[in-house]
Amino acid sequence: MAVRNIREMGDEVLNKTCKEVKEITPRIQELIEDMLETMYEANGVGLAAPQVGVLKRIVVIDVTGEDPLVLINPKILETSGEQTGNEGCLSVPGKTGIVTRPNYVKIQAYNEKMELFELEGMELLARAIFHELDHLDGKLYVELVEGELEDLEIPEDEV
Ligand code: NI
Repeated sequence: MAVRNIREMGDEVLNKTCKEVKEITPRIQELIEDMLETMYEANGVGLAAPQVGVLKRIVVIDVTGEDPLVLINPKILETSGEQTGNEGCLSVPGKTGIVTRPNYVKIQAYNEKMELFELEGMELLARAIFHELDHLDGKLYVELVEGELEDLEIPEDEV
């Protein structure tokens, strides 16, 4: 396992659409392990493959610090409600902004064994899912910020 370099806003890899994963290869397994290690090392709650320069539809999320989720080829099935709050991104270091997202999401995704599963998330988990899935389509949260992007005083909850 290795910590990978996190790409930052301005790097065009962050604006591209990622490709679906067809099968789990040793390289993909290594990528997933490295993404988890990179996310924890950076104190993030989520990381998408393009943030480490790989254009594949893979996301890792852990909003509690002890519940790692691996989402491969994730798809949104259902959303509802609304939440407005601060968001950050490991690819936009030191910044935060207010973003409104649905408060609930139901998704389907494959896990690291390519088994299909469904997952429901609310509040921070839902926010992290929307944020990371946007990365897979080349979108950064800064496009959604209401008002101005602000300087982050205490880095936390960066996804
Ligand atoms: Ni992000």
